[in-house]
Amino acid sequence: MTNKQAILEKARAYVFQELNGEVSGHDWWHIHRVTNLARTIAQKEGADLFICELAALLHDLADGKLNETEAIGLQKVQTWLAINGLETQDQDHIMDIIEHLSFKGGNQTQTVSTLEGQVVQDADRLDALGAIGIARTMAYSGHTGRPIHDPAMQPREQLTLEEYRSGQDTAIMHFYEKLLKLKDRMNTTTAKELAQERHQFLETYLEQFYGKRPITRYLPIK
Ligand code: ADP
Ligand code: NI
Repeated sequence: MTNKQAILEKARAYVFQELNGEVSGHDWWHIHRVTNLARTIAQKEGADLFICELAALLHDLADGKLNETEAIGLQKVQTWLAINGLETQDQDHIMDIIEHLSFKGGNQTQTVSTLEGQVVQDADRLDALGAIGIARTMAYSGHTGRPIHDPAMQPREQLTLEEYRSGQDTAIMHFYEKLLKLKDRMNTTTAKELAQERHQFLETYLEQFYGKRPITRYLPIK
């Protein structure tokens, strides 16, 4: 086993231990899917596989929602990388990716700067779309005690991070405030292609949710 393979193996064990059973949308299987997607995209786009895979595995450990603060979370990941013998240059690269990955309302000025960062960000965003993305949205809303839908509440434009995190929203509002915007924000051509079908599924889901399609399988309620 090469040193890189050994580091990936340790990262997998560490992340599994930290996130297995997490219920706000950042569980181990989200990490597993994002890592696989990142590998697929990295191969097609010619990005560094090791950096993409390691950043994908570690990308949610520093999240502000899972740590006292995001800064404390980032320090935790930095320490792990140093203890596990990653070269300084690679440490900096991974930290740069993790720090700039998150959507956070979509208005931040600093974004990922390297191809590897773009790949991992695309992979993370693809897992917020389609059937999986809908399940995660509903789980997150339920977890934070928010309603599924309220026709009186309208999606908000130009959200600040505070507004985005404030909890004054519904699961359906989140489709408009984030999910439906993601297909046009993919960085790589590969992810843009992969996003199409998942985006279409969101549209179909909303149509049925609002009842624009006749539901023929059920008898009318008398
Ligand atoms: P973000 O950077 O937008 O917080 P996360 O990856 O941390 O993204 O969010 C975890 C999951 O929860 C994602 O599937 C995301 O779409 C969903 N989510 C985030 N915020 C909300 C919200 N306010 N309502 C419903 N789902 C949400
Ligand atoms: Ni994630």
